[in-house]
Amino acid sequence: MVKEPYELEWVDVAALIKAVKLAESIKPSQQAKRNAFKEFGVLGTRRDPPLTAIFYNIMLRLGIIDNLIKEFSGVTNPLLLEANLRAALRVFIGLMVFSRDRVRFRDLDKIKNKVSQYLSEASHPFVGMWFWDLIDRLVSFEYRPKTPEEELTLKYLLPAWYIKKISELIGADEAAELFKSFLKTPKISVRVNTLKATVEEVLKELEESKVKDLEVSQVVPTVIKFKGPYNFDRSRLLREGKIVIQDESAALAAILLDPKPGQVVVDLAAAPGGKTELIGELMRNEGVIHAFDVDAKRISRMRRLLERAGITIVKIYERDGREAPRIVGENVADRVLVDPPCSSDGTLMKNPDLRWRLLEEEVPKLAQLQYELLLAGLKMLKPGGYLLYSTCSLLREQGEDVIQRVIKKKKAKIVPIKGPYEEGFLPGTMRAWPHKHNTTGFFYALLTKG
Ligand SMILES: C[S@@+](CC[C@H](N)C(=O)[O-])C[C@H]1O[C@@H](n2cnc3c(N)ncnc32)[C@H](O)[C@@H]1O
Repeated sequence: MVKEPYELEWVDVAALIKAVKLAESIKPSQQAKRNAFKEFGVLGTRRDPPLTAIFYNIMLRLGIIDNLIKEFSGVTNPLLLEANLRAALRVFIGLMVFSRDRVRFRDLDKIKNKVSQYLSEASHPFVGMWFWDLIDRLVSFEYRPKTPEEELTLKYLLPAWYIKKISELIGADEAAELFKSFLKTPKISVRVNTLKATVEEVLKELEESKVKDLEVSQVVPTVIKFKGPYNFDRSRLLREGKIVIQDESAALAAILLDPKPGQVVVDLAAAPGGKTELIGELMRNEGVIHAFDVDAKRISRMRRLLERAGITIVKIYERDGREAPRIVGENVADRVLVDPPCSSDGTLMKNPDLRWRLLEEEVPKLAQLQYELLLAGLKMLKPGGYLLYSTCSLLREQGEDVIQRVIKKKKAKIVPIKGPYEEGFLPGTMRAWPHKHNTTGFFYALLTKG
């Protein structure tokens, strides 16, 4: 059955422009979309699902759309444009070039008028006029990639440099499978806080709230996956700390660390605290966890999470993890978790617009910070203690290469991880692959002092 195109009215376009504009500052973009749709009376109405699909259709192509904006406007970077104009351009190019089969305009002249008027008032009359002309050009514009790189970018909706790096790592065919998996909608994943609830109890309550395709993870038996919609804002299970929103592969990092009740644990990049919470749970809330992070907002989220979950053994420091050995001391920790900032490309199915914020020039900077945090973590580790290094990036530079660097310096030895996922490109390390293991992509290495 052919789906009828969605008929857009001015209010729909206005809601999309607001959502795309807010998505620049509010992450994840799903939240930005919710806020904008609420403001324009779209949220929860029958217009919500088709407009949500159109919104993601635009966000998934943002990098390609921005290149077209450069071409049409002559600016070297769309970020130089006024924010309302940039959002309007992104939406109209998204709609008129990349969503032609999905939408039609109820009254294009009226919509054109409204947007042009709005832009003239928000910036300069000239801007409105220019926009008016551009819409006429877009009606008949056909996008054609000009280079093989642009062709691949259009096919996989990923930056060319990322396609190249991953294809070199795992081969073009497998890379294609991975890139396809980035476009699938993942199941929602929650982990049961065993200090407050049982898996059976949570399963029963989720069943009652009519979620679909409930399944218990084979890898982490306290992780439950299901298809939404599920309203976390209204979830009693979440409010009472009985569940934590977390993917199987993220939970596994804390499990591989194997913390025990009564131990001293350091978590060097802890917020928003999903893994810290699980470490606390595995320690049965006995011992101490020193948790560091530099981001005050994320730390507030961590405080709320730990409070809900009933974990009371965490000492939180709003400090750079590289300073931690001076604060906590050297050779003091039984366990250290280093889950540093990374390019997060393993989470692309959950964060579709992140793909256009992946910047090649950021990779060496992240790798250096990861290395420095890892060295700080090793300093704090007691001889015989374990450090787990994990990142949700699939780039070798942020995984095996960082570990190889500390091993070369004789600062650490690898303690082989024997599954449940696949061995990494350095023996004894492990990788979770979205296309093979149906979870967020992760790299793991377990280390002990060298
Ligand atoms: C991958 S996230 C951590 C996720 C967390 N472990 C969890 O499971 O919820 C990386 C964190 O590192 C923090 N960060 C960035 N630079 C840091 C630094 N120099 N020292 C400590 N934390 C840092 C970020 O604010 C971010 O919260």
